[in-house]
Amino acid sequence: MTDSMQSEVFVQFVASGAQRGRDARWKKVTVRPVEIRHERHLQFIYLDDRKDIRRNFSTESAWRDALREVFDGGFANFHLQSDAGDIHVRIGKRGRPLVSRGRPSTKLEQARLAHNRARASLLPPAVAKPYLRTVGIADESGDVKPTMRAKYRQVEAFLRLIDQKLPSACPGGMRVVDCGCGSAYLTLAVYAMLTQVKGWKTSIVGVDRERDRVEKCRALAGELGWDDVRFIESTIGEFVPEAQPDMVLALHACDTATDEALARGVRWEAGLLFAAPCCQQELSGQIDADDHNALLRHGILKQRTADLLTDALRAAALEAAGYRTDVVEFVTSDVTSKNLLIRAERKGSRPRSEAVEQYRVLRDCWRADPSIGRLLGGDFVD
Ligand SMILES: C[S@@+](CC[C@H](N)C(=O)[O-])C[C@H]1O[C@@H](n2cnc3c(N)ncnc32)[C@H](O)[C@@H]1O
Repeated sequence: MTDSMQSEVFVQFVASGAQRGRDARWKKVTVRPVEIRHERHLQFIYLDDRKDIRRNFSTESAWRDALREVFDGGFANFHLQSDAGDIHVRIGKRGRPLVSRGRPSTKLEQARLAHNRARASLLPPAVAKPYLRTVGIADESGDVKPTMRAKYRQVEAFLRLIDQKLPSACPGGMRVVDCGCGSAYLTLAVYAMLTQVKGWKTSIVGVDRERDRVEKCRALAGELGWDDVRFIESTIGEFVPEAQPDMVLALHACDTATDEALARGVRWEAGLLFAAPCCQQELSGQIDADDHNALLRHGILKQRTADLLTDALRAAALEAAGYRTDVVEFVTSDVTSKNLLIRAERKGSRPRSEAVEQYRVLRDCWRADPSIGRLLGGDFVD
């Protein structure tokens, strides 16, 4: 079992469940290969009720020591997955191991993709800890609260996607607007990354229509001593920035607030737009069951069709407005079902007629009248 972990076919090893009469030190330990700075490591993820701790080992002696500790950790089940096949070991009542073998349950390529998504955090601990504690994602000892894990993973994934699109240097500083900032989890994380990791001068504004939230966010920024972070009580549509933003963000701004954020970003000629939509209602009330009865007579299919259509029209409209646009899953669906993200990079200043036509064809085929078109106006309305 151990030997296959150093081979290229190794996918994952999981130790779980406590042996009878023993307290396992952790609930679960997962071991998997990861690439860090082009070098293969084995990553050990130790999970208990409160936190998961990750340790990466590059040398065989180090990971073998760590593995020995896991084998001595009181676990009842061990599951090794490799491209060559799976091995299950169950420790029976008298401590005797029962071994069974099976066909590979996960392919290496799938696992690689998952691993890549789960790369190390962009905020080093010294930066992350004060931020996480202050916003309430982590507890006093700095560990991410179980109830906040999903939100933290969304924020981390968002940061990673932003990071991929950032220039290597930003001498003029970065201006960012976070639309529908809520409790400022994303606003403050982006600020931390740009100022403390990149070292860039950054001004960032969180916009939210809820006064209570805005006041709480101001208090959080004050607690962190981050004076360049501002929070403004406003609808996204009415917000007027002091200077042209370089980047516009919207993480789960509700329903058509995402359209407001994207349309404002286009109007401000922001270079980068990132929006993870949520709870879209608009088009499910517009698309016509008579035209597409076999698809739309089922409520859930109608809702999902409306969601996809809404995002497809948003992406098409951004393309048409001169942005190179793609739609990606920014986290897996077990973190949140609202896991699509539209990202767009400004490439030109004028609407592209071919792309405008594609937008119109899709809109008209569904007899839809989406907010994104109305808010952008011009070529996007008849
Ligand atoms: C689901 S929360 C998401 C908050 C935050 N972005 C996050 O992911 O933690 C949506 C937020 O958007 C705000 N919001 C919704 N529509 C808005 C609008 N049209 N203008 C400004 N804020 C809006 C709500 O008040 C709420 O705080």
